[in-house]
Amino acid sequence: MQTSLWRSRKVLVWLDERLALTELLEYARHKTVPEHKHSFWYYWGGISMFFFLIQVFTGVLLMVYYRPGAESYESVREITYDIRFGWLIRSAHSWSANLMVLAVFIHMFSVFFMKAYRKPREFGWWSGLALLALTMTFGFSGYLLPMDELAYFATKVGLELPASLPLVGKFINDVVRGGPEVGSVTIQRFFALHVVVLPLIFIPVLAFHLWLVQKHGNALPPSEEQKPIAERRSIPFFPDFFSKDLAMWLVALNVLAILASLYPWQLGPQADPLAPAPAGIHPEWYFMSQFQLLKLFGRWFPGVTGEVLGLVFFTLILLLWAIVPLYDTGTAAGRRAKVATWFGITVLALLIVTTIWGYWEVL
Ligand code: HEM
Repeated sequence: MQTSLWRSRKVLVWLDERLALTELLEYARHKTVPEHKHSFWYYWGGISMFFFLIQVFTGVLLMVYYRPGAESYESVREITYDIRFGWLIRSAHSWSANLMVLAVFIHMFSVFFMKAYRKPREFGWWSGLALLALTMTFGFSGYLLPMDELAYFATKVGLELPASLPLVGKFINDVVRGGPEVGSVTIQRFFALHVVVLPLIFIPVLAFHLWLVQKHGNALPPSEEQKPIAERRSIPFFPDFFSKDLAMWLVALNVLAILASLYPWQLGPQADPLAPAPAGIHPEWYFMSQFQLLKLFGRWFPGVTGEVLGLVFFTLILLLWAIVPLYDTGTAAGRRAKVATWFGITVLALLIVTTIWGYWEVL
């Protein structure tokens, strides 16, 4: 017993001399996280990251059997019905993708309302927006891969969004589709995007995002910032916050396990490009808002005008959303702070209302 303890201590010392482990631990012990009544919202970045790790793990397992191209439907059918636990891995991957998008949205709105985009965290906001765009592109490109009926027609509908862009629309569509129709070549392209291009961009952007959080620490919401320093409370990152983070990950894993096993992800009939689109076809829930907005503009202003106006409106909101850190720069709750908060409430309400409206019309 004594010798094995002595040996493991020697191994630790050996590692420490080479990897500076104690320095790292000391750093983690000194780093603190603010504690107040809104602290719950600090966990959502970590939860988003947890779902990303699940995506990598289950995605690599799916890749062992998935065959992109003409055989993609057949290979997903095998994964779902023939390969042991294939259905579970596929179900976990699909559910976790949706939960990740949801967690990223919750994280974005919580940092927005805590005003965590203010100086010096502007790049945290912008890199976060890039992560959101990448997460949604992961979802869009992955959705086509099984090539069942729903995937095929939803992708066709989804690609109508960039197609309505003036000048570049047709070009973007041809490059993405690899031809005039969604087919095997499109699947090859979406697959390369999904498993190579997107991870290659996502991982360095995420590393930059996390480095910024380490550099600046967690932001205090305005209600806490107004308190005198002596009244502010914080806890050490390690082990206190870290163990709470792990507890949240365990809750996230449980939610995922329940959903993936009790509601297995379905595989519809194979896509038939010659068949008419089934009634009520629509994109994934996180694109429903844009889809519905474009539909409404098309209805209000018939013809190309409606499509262009819809895109202009959407791009304008996105641009304003991105430049909020440059507008709301104050530290106190001034006029600009109030305008920004109301803008956030309007965007959130618009997202929720148009999403529900969209489902109301198609279901
Ligand atoms: C896959 C997507 C994302 C991941 C994995 C991620 C991860 C994280 C993590 C782990 C933190 C530190 C803990 C926390 O405050 O929650 C954080 C902080 C932050 N994130 Fe993200 N994030 C993502 C997307 C976003 C998005 C979409 C935005 C906003 C547009 C954003 C903006 C921020 C900001 C401003 C902070 C600093 C918050 C503070 O100081 O309290 N992130 N992120």
